[in-house]
Amino acid sequence: MIVAHTLQEFLQSRSQLQNHSVALVPTMGALHEGHIAVIKKAKELSHYCIVTIFVNQLQFDQLDDYLRYPKTEENDIRLLEKNQVDLVWLPKAHDIYSKNFCTRIVIEGPALNWEGAVRKGHFSGVATLVNRLFSLIKPTIACFGEKDWQQLQVIKRMVEDLNIPVTIFGVPIVREKNGLAKSSRNKFLTPDEHEKASLLYKTLQNSYKKIQNNQNISKVLEEAVQTLESEGFKVDYYAAVNSNTMTELRKWCQDGRLIAAAKLGSVRLIDNM
Ligand code: PAJ
Repeated sequence: MIVAHTLQEFLQSRSQLQNHSVALVPTMGALHEGHIAVIKKAKELSHYCIVTIFVNQLQFDQLDDYLRYPKTEENDIRLLEKNQVDLVWLPKAHDIYSKNFCTRIVIEGPALNWEGAVRKGHFSGVATLVNRLFSLIKPTIACFGEKDWQQLQVIKRMVEDLNIPVTIFGVPIVREKNGLAKSSRNKFLTPDEHEKASLLYKTLQNSYKKIQNNQNISKVLEEAVQTLESEGFKVDYYAAVNSNTMTELRKWCQDGRLIAAAKLGSVRLIDNM
């Protein structure tokens, strides 16, 4: 595995991966089995696999969240090597955003609500970075986790709207034993919170069953929020949406998706089903 730091090192190494398909898996590091599942899928779908590790300040709406984002670089590199990644790039901010950089991608449609409404500027930050990575790396495909369902829809929208020559694939959510979606931020949960956090997934499962049994959607969603709040969660949103456009559903349809975000202690959890 090649480990590149500077842009120059990266471009030099990238030029060695020619004449075959290249998959990109962008990450912010602190890698866990969720990331590894995305990488395994990328390797299955293409000849070469490139992973980037970059904590993109542009997508953080809270400075303290950015500053405390976990960094486990040595461990990440070991894990990527073990999983036979071909090239990992750990750029510095100035490799991605030059001194005079002042272009932002702003996506409407699927980016407007939910994460987009709660975390102002978040998807613009994600899209600006991912677009920059696409233009520097020129991958054939790129893989993203379904854990960040809305992010996956936003990237697909951007690729289509800007005609970017890359195919986007989604990879199912990897969960901990108790059902909690794996996340780099889970390590900030206390053991008690960790146990309790699985209630988010269990509540989604429960709501899904009720909706399948034709119960009224608004009532099901209301009950779910009540359950979570009575257990100490602060719910940002808990909604039924069209899985591509992310618009709210009043009546369930085949394309429906339940999405939720809630804070437990100091940790913000997101999940979907
Ligand atoms: P990060 O949170 O590091 O996640 C990198 C990729 O791993 C994303 O596509 C995410 O959806 C996927 N992932 C994380 N946890 C997962 C899980 N439990 N199951 C399946 N996939 C999972 O998402 C980002 O970074 C950033 O926004 C990024 C796209 C890199 C842009 O900065």
